[in-house]
Amino acid sequence: MGMNSLKGTYILAIETSCDETAAAILYNQRILANVISSQLQHSDFGGVIPELASRLHQQQIIQVVNATFKQAGIDPKRLDAVAVTQGPGLLGALLVGMCFAKAYAWAMGVPVITVNHMEAHVLANFLNESPPSFPFLCLTVSGGHTQLVLIKDYLDMQILGQTIDDAAGEAFDKAAKMMNLPYPGGPHIDRLAKSGNAEKFSFPTPDVDQYAFSFSGLKTALLYLIRDEVRKHPGFLEEHLADLCASYQHQIITILLDKLQLAARETGVRHLAIAGGVSANSELRASFKTLCLENNWISHIPALEYSTDNAAMIGIAGYYKLLKGKTSAWDAVPYARKA
Ligand code: KG4
Ligand code: ZN
Repeated sequence: MGMNSLKGTYILAIETSCDETAAAILYNQRILANVISSQLQHSDFGGVIPELASRLHQQQIIQVVNATFKQAGIDPKRLDAVAVTQGPGLLGALLVGMCFAKAYAWAMGVPVITVNHMEAHVLANFLNESPPSFPFLCLTVSGGHTQLVLIKDYLDMQILGQTIDDAAGEAFDKAAKMMNLPYPGGPHIDRLAKSGNAEKFSFPTPDVDQYAFSFSGLKTALLYLIRDEVRKHPGFLEEHLADLCASYQHQIITILLDKLQLAARETGVRHLAIAGGVSANSELRASFKTLCLENNWISHIPALEYSTDNAAMIGIAGYYKLLKGKTSAWDAVPYARKA
């Protein structure tokens, strides 16, 4: 049982924190299989319905894990550990993954390793061919979180600052809703922004502490802009959709990268990374690369499929925990917010 450094390590990873049922199998740091089943059912409701998410995870998980083993072509008897997201996320959704992972690990006689979802987003950068060197800074931007993190070692992370209200992903999703775009709105705004003029409309820059973020003012400004202009001209939204998306997106990205830039200057850290669902944004990826090039910083971006929620990142986080002997107790429970 457990890890044998001579033969390498096989890890099954499970992620069910929100609306993706995902599993992956890694051999050391290498991904052998990565399967994601996205719950498209939520889009009809304009947001994730927790109860529905739990039930869909329960329905999907065995199928997803079976498909993952098939893709990896390995016998479950070769597993050394099962890694699973413990939080943050939706409690009922997390419980499905945790119960499954514990039962599977227990049946196979291997340890379970619980993983923090936000740390896993950061560690997705180690799935790259040339991973970051320590220390590095990471801008972790997802549907529920916006964090500026200093990473000193795989499992030694310090949050320098975070949002005081909405997350960057929420700023995208809530704006999309105001513009009658489907959930999740981030990818739709990204696509529409490509044909828009980012200088057409201006949005406020929040006045917050050096490494803190705030997006609720931006969201409110968009709401009032649309309301006032539609009152004057009912076709405003449809006619200016691309410009609205481009201007709004550009302001989110400016706010994010200004803070990252400030942290890099103040700390002198030269390896910079982005992570989380919003790091899938095409303008953020491009502007981040340009910023790093201009300053001689080394940029790190996870591949698209490892930016949004996935289990490969849970697997790599589990791998580094296993190397340090950090397996979890059988009575571990999920947490909705950072414990
Ligand atoms: O990390 P993630 O997949 O799930 C959470 O942990 O929350 O992040 C989901 C968030 C959603 O708010 C979604 O709209 C946003 O990431 N997102 C994007 C893009 N793709 C996903 N935001 C902007 N542009 C994108 N291309
Ligand atoms: Zn996530």
